[in-house]
Amino acid sequence: MALLPILRYPDPRLKKVAAPVERIDESIRTLARNMAETMYEAPGIGLAATQVDVHKQLVVIDVSEDKSALLVLVNARILERAGSQAGEEGCLSVPGIYDKVERAERVTVQYLDLDGVERTLEAEGLLAVCIQHELDHLTGKVFVDYLSQLKQTRIKNKLAKQARITA
Ligand code: NI
Repeated sequence: MALLPILRYPDPRLKKVAAPVERIDESIRTLARNMAETMYEAPGIGLAATQVDVHKQLVVIDVSEDKSALLVLVNARILERAGSQAGEEGCLSVPGIYDKVERAERVTVQYLDLDGVERTLEAEGLLAVCIQHELDHLTGKVFVDYLSQLKQTRIKNKLAKQARITA
């Protein structure tokens, strides 16, 4: 097991589009394990491969309070979206920043699990938000992209300042 370094916004590599996983092998299972460990350690409720500079369609999610509901989604796509909700979102790649984003209230997602079995999941509330947020990462999108230009500039400046202090 290993902790993976997480890319920080506005790193241009966060804009890369992830490719589908062609074969679920031991390297993919190891990546998923390391991503889960990195997510729990952060701590966070979701992490996309893009955020650890691996541009494959893999995300890990656990919205439970006690780390008991790890979900690994390979080659996931959202089949249906319904309703809307707007909650505060944060992101491990945008530390310390939280803002409201509008999302679908419910989603139906189809994906492969780590055994290569195709599954369908219906999610709502926080889990639905987390799925939408993580799958956005795989298309190069970060939640701050939904905010106003003014806010995006402010966030970039704030994170640049933090990076200088911690460097
Ligand atoms: Ni994120």
